[in-house]
Amino acid sequence: MTGQPVTLVTGASAGLGAEFARQCRARGDRLALVARRRERLDALAAELGEAHVFAVDLAEPGAPARLMAEVEALGLSVETLINNAGFGLAGRFADLPAERQTEMIELDVRALTELCRLAVPAMLQRRRGFILNVASTAAFQAGPMMAVYYASKAYVLSLTEALHQEAKGSGVHVTALCPGPIATEFFEVAGAADGRLAKLGADPADIARAGLAGLARNRAIVIPGLMNKLTAQSNRLLPRAAMRRIVAAIKS
Ligand SMILES: NC(=O)c1ccc[n+]([C@@H]2O[C@H](COP(=O)([O-])OP(=O)(O)OC[C@H]3O[C@@H](n4cnc5c(N)ncnc54)[C@H](OP(=O)(O)O)[C@@H]3O)[C@@H](O)[C@H]2O)c1
Repeated sequence: MTGQPVTLVTGASAGLGAEFARQCRARGDRLALVARRRERLDALAAELGEAHVFAVDLAEPGAPARLMAEVEALGLSVETLINNAGFGLAGRFADLPAERQTEMIELDVRALTELCRLAVPAMLQRRRGFILNVASTAAFQAGPMMAVYYASKAYVLSLTEALHQEAKGSGVHVTALCPGPIATEFFEVAGAADGRLAKLGADPADIARAGLAGLARNRAIVIPGLMNKLTAQSNRLLPRAAMRRIVAAIKS
């Protein structure tokens, strides 16, 4: 049985996720907005006129399955999944709180994977579906002083490329969006608001637009901006040891 198609956006209460929601609504999508801060989601739903709100902590075990069951119970089926929720932590691996690092893996890696796994079979069956996974330019090299975050985004990129390839010819689009720094709450949450990258943030509306355009064209990887494209490719030209030193220098 097919429900009413919706675009599910995780991390819709702020930054890039809120922009995805605005742009998807502007093109006529029905929305399912997911994040922990309900009041922010309610405010966005009121602004957009139509949206289902799901106040969920996706880092909790079993949360993605409970969320998808709730969505289905409302007679909705996820036609577009935007796996955007995520956070990073800046600092030395040995010094950062272990439980927050685990929470990062739970959200950025496990929840994203589970949501893909929950959504993709019905998409394949319908021969129609769209999955946009938000990785980062961090996915292309190791990240000293942000080690778990960079590793988690490398996972997101690798998973997404593989799913893209598996879905070829099926009618299901799968795209990894790999932005450089964006002007959102990300750096504050990461404890890096005073760092160099925080000052280089792109407009989230531009990044969301690039991601949705790439998804529509079923691009495997979207890297918005020329500098970010060059940065992402520099790991092919430079030795890995040089890349590690450069990233460490940018972070210090
Ligand atoms: N900003 C950058 O420079 C940058 C660059 C490359 C990639 N990215 C990626 O872009 C994505 C969006 O980040 P952003 O820049 O928009 O950061 P942001 O402004 O901090 O937004 C993060 C979103 O994730 C949600 N979230 C956090 N923990 C959650 C949890 N446990 N369960 C459910 N939702 C949760 C937050 O909502 P609640 O707090 O209400 O739960 C918020 O809506 C992330 O995957 C990030 O890694 C960001």
